[in-house]
Amino acid sequence: MTLLEVDGLCVNYGRIEAIRDVTFAVEEGAVVTLIGANGAGKTTTLKTLSGLRKVRAGAVRFQGKDITAMPAHLRVPLGISQSPEGRRIFPGMSVLENLDMGAFSRADRVKTRSADLERVFTLFPRLEERREQLAGTMSGGEQQMLAMGRALMSRPKLILLDEPSMGLAPKLIQQIFSIINDIREQGTTILLVEQNAMQALRIADRAYILETGEIVREGTGDDLVADDSVRAAYLGGDV
Ligand SMILES: Nc1ncnc2c1ncn2[C@@H]1O[C@H](COP(=O)(O)OP(=O)(O)O)[C@@H](O)[C@H]1O
Ligand SMILES: [Mg+2]
Repeated sequence: MTLLEVDGLCVNYGRIEAIRDVTFAVEEGAVVTLIGANGAGKTTTLKTLSGLRKVRAGAVRFQGKDITAMPAHLRVPLGISQSPEGRRIFPGMSVLENLDMGAFSRADRVKTRSADLERVFTLFPRLEERREQLAGTMSGGEQQMLAMGRALMSRPKLILLDEPSMGLAPKLIQQIFSIINDIREQGTTILLVEQNAMQALRIADRAYILETGEIVREGTGDDLVADDSVRAAYLGGDV
């Protein structure tokens, strides 16, 4: 089943067209990645799916329902949750408080809190060790784990991950990608935005390449990893 359909999406900042005629689909249970250079329109696309940017043209459908004009706060209970670029955790709150914020939109959050925390702590044991620590005092990698954990607390059907590997050391990047795999195996569908193209393509079922606001290539992750022109343009020496 197709969980998310993005059809001819155009989003502007004033007169600047940030994305143009962007069309892609995310099948339920899949990892789909959007890769592209800085400024390609990746974050704009995710923000639009979260309801944080207005659509100039095109449509977004989730589980077959048109949500193009749906406000952001209604999308979380519907099952769309974002781990934003640059983490955006609440630095003055503890790890636990940050995680509770992630569950805020759920009416049954009190009942399910311990099970939800357990799921997050199983994926990210480090967060359990640091549960009382102020989030702003944690390392970049720990903050990334917290941002992903917080997004999972709303029990999303679709999680949007904006550059989870940004700024992390290689060993930590491996760990984050392996956790992304675990999240998929638990049945959560993933839309992953990355500049780290090689890693993203390796775990993706389907991949789209964004260039200056437009999708210029698509294929399976394996196809694009194996494609010489893709490797030359996007994978640099990282092969
Ligand atoms: N708040 C903003 N105001 C004006 N232009 C923006 C804003 N945010 C992003 N842009 C522009 O939109 C384009 C896409 O940016 P973005 O979606 O952040 O790309 P990416 O996440 O792929 O790096 C870029 O040209 C960027 O300069
Ligand atoms: Mg971005």
